[in-house]
Amino acid sequence: MNQTQLVRSPAIRRAGEADLDELALMLTGLSDLSLYFRFQAGVGRPPRPALLLRMLCPSGASWVATRDDAVVGHAMWAWAVGSPGTAELAAVISDPEQHRGLGVRMLAIAAADAIASGATHFLFVVSSANDASLRMIRRRWPDATVERDGSLLMFHAPARVPSQSVSQARSMAATSTSAAAAVS
Ligand SMILES: CC(C)(COP(=O)(O)OP(=O)(O)OC[C@H]1O[C@@H](n2cnc3c(N)ncnc32)[C@H](O)[C@@H]1OP(=O)(O)O)[C@@H](O)C(=O)NCCC(=O)NCCS
Repeated sequence: MNQTQLVRSPAIRRAGEADLDELALMLTGLSDLSLYFRFQAGVGRPPRPALLLRMLCPSGASWVATRDDAVVGHAMWAWAVGSPGTAELAAVISDPEQHRGLGVRMLAIAAADAIASGATHFLFVVSSANDASLRMIRRRWPDATVERDGSLLMFHAPARVPSQSVSQARSMAATSTSAAAAVS
């Protein structure tokens, strides 16, 4: 690609049952590591329809990002069981589209929607080996507290829409005393 070509950003829209086949295709094409980081468990290729339906029709809401009609990203929020007012957020981006801002864009949409639905806190469940996600959460929700459960870290944060600007996120992280930073 030459320097004058523009790469369009994927489009983001609400997801539903009709996206089952395209979401299955995207998840099937993920690297082993991305698939593991998203589910922290062995997941088939393609994943079971019951899992896909939970991703597309959660207790909260879900979104897909598409490029040329193919799903390249998914984000969702769902009410955390036993923790009233807490929305669990999760996202997965296809490997070639990672690290270009799409994950934060999708999480910002999910976060805003969860807040509009009454969420006061967010929960992120992340593998302790998932450096990109740990960095993203610590920068965007620097006041999150964290508990370890085996190889998983559970981040609890006051509900807030994340900044999509790197410098804003960095200055937030720098000025906050983060309990999360104590666990790595
Ligand atoms: C985690 C994930 C959703 C982030 O989405 P993304 O589009 O790749 O990330 P973005 O480009 O929006 O960047 C978000 C932040 O992630 C972190 N990050 C992204 N790529 C990184 C890398 N290569 N190394 C370290 N940190 C990285 C950074 O903190 C970045 O924010 P910054 O602007 O402050 O640097 C995506 O990488 C993914 O799908 N990973 C596999 C599945 C997963 O881990 N899901 C999360 C658990 S539910």
